Amino acid sequence: MRDANFIIENNAKPIWHPMAHPADMRANAPKVITGGRGAHITDIDGRTTLDAVGGLWNVNLGYSCDPIKQAIADQLDALPYYSGFRGTTNAPSIELAYELVEWFRPDGMARAFFTSGGSDSVETALRLARQYWKIKGEGDRTKFLALKKGYHGTHFGGASVNGNANFRRNYEPLMPGVFHIPAPNAYRNPFGETDPARVAELCANALEDEIAFQGADTIAAFIMEPVLGAGGVIVPHESFMPRVREILDRHGILLISDEVVAGFGRTGAWSGARLWGVKPDMMTVAKAVTSGYFPLGATMIGDKVAEAFESDKSSFGSIGHGYTYSGHPVGCAAGLATLAETKRLKLNENAAARGAELGSALEKLKASHEVVGDVRYQGLMAGIEIVADRAKKTPGDKAMMDRIAEVAYAADVMIRVSGNMIILSPPLIITADDVAKIADALDKGLAAA
Ligand SMILES: Cc1ncc(COP(=O)(O)O)c(C=O)c1O
Repeated sequence: MRDANFIIENNAKPIWHPMAHPADMRANAPKVITGGRGAHITDIDGRTTLDAVGGLWNVNLGYSCDPIKQAIADQLDALPYYSGFRGTTNAPSIELAYELVEWFRPDGMARAFFTSGGSDSVETALRLARQYWKIKGEGDRTKFLALKKGYHGTHFGGASVNGNANFRRNYEPLMPGVFHIPAPNAYRNPFGETDPARVAELCANALEDEIAFQGADTIAAFIMEPVLGAGGVIVPHESFMPRVREILDRHGILLISDEVVAGFGRTGAWSGARLWGVKPDMMTVAKAVTSGYFPLGATMIGDKVAEAFESDKSSFGSIGHGYTYSGHPVGCAAGLATLAETKRLKLNENAAARGAELGSALEKLKASHEVVGDVRYQGLMAGIEIVADRAKKTPGDKAMMDRIAEVAYAADVMIRVSGNMIILSPPLIITADDVAKIADALDKGLAAA
């Protein structure tokens, strides 16, 4: 390992960063994080902060979870890699698939297909959805519907169902046959409505309308996050996802629940779909499945889809899709230890309790800071929408956002800024004192803005 001077000297030079302009990164070198313990991280200058970002919505168990580290070390000793392509497999992947099916059984899931991360899981779900319809003899069902503001990763399929213009424009043309409906956001929506239940109803009506326009028999699936994350922490009214399920059922369209953020307790429920009492046809997971200790994801396949593939007599049932690292034994060993710890510590309950405290702290910040346009939260997913003008809802600019982040960091809390949103997704192990510390740092940051 080279020394700290080398790292600082080369920061943002030989490397391009995701979701950033290379020139901007060179001009404003990112913080180099060198250590982590519990919910805290330490940067290369030796400054320790509470990580209210949780890595990237993923380090649910914090940075020093011994059982995960031990499981990884043990598996590296036993077998660092073997493939799951036809003819071979490995033991941890079988065991983790079993555990994931148990975990998501209440959501109607029956099988797991392993991937290397969230984008892969989304890609897999989209592809399996099309294949499902070919198996069923309805090969015209190829289109996908999705929510504006939805985030589904950056592969071409995921970017195509993605509902954020900034992730689409530079890579167009994207996949044809993808259509978007408005997100159920009571703060900003095309209907001029503020009542969350009414907004949910209007968005669901838009879905119904789009299905009628496209023709239900051309649509493979609708994909949504149960709580929208990267698009600005949009928490739908509780009626939305059940109504979506009812509409899709009526038209025979599959529902893919993108649980890459919401899965494993972050919303206060063990899955986002379960939070709303909905059973999807497929679910995509990644991130917290290993608490970020190893890149791993999975597409969970529900009963109906599994049954169609497994009883297939057509020529379409064989899966022509997969990754070298599908079912990576080290990742799966990490996943097994993560799930066991997640369950043992009842992280869903802590997410709900700490999330309620964080939510009321955010409401207080909204009452005392003009720059706060809206606060949105569910469990330990939270967002603060910053505005330059509250009445006009003018989005806060980059200078404001940078200032808030800088002051919060000086108050020992790492927050994430995305557009005019402050995004909070701390580890699910945080304490009530940690929540108070996050609120205090935000108070200082918002005052400075
Ligand atoms: C809901 C959702 N889906 C998919 C992805 C893509 O996951 P990854 O970055 O692991 O490819 C993300 C990433 O943040 C996400 O939030």
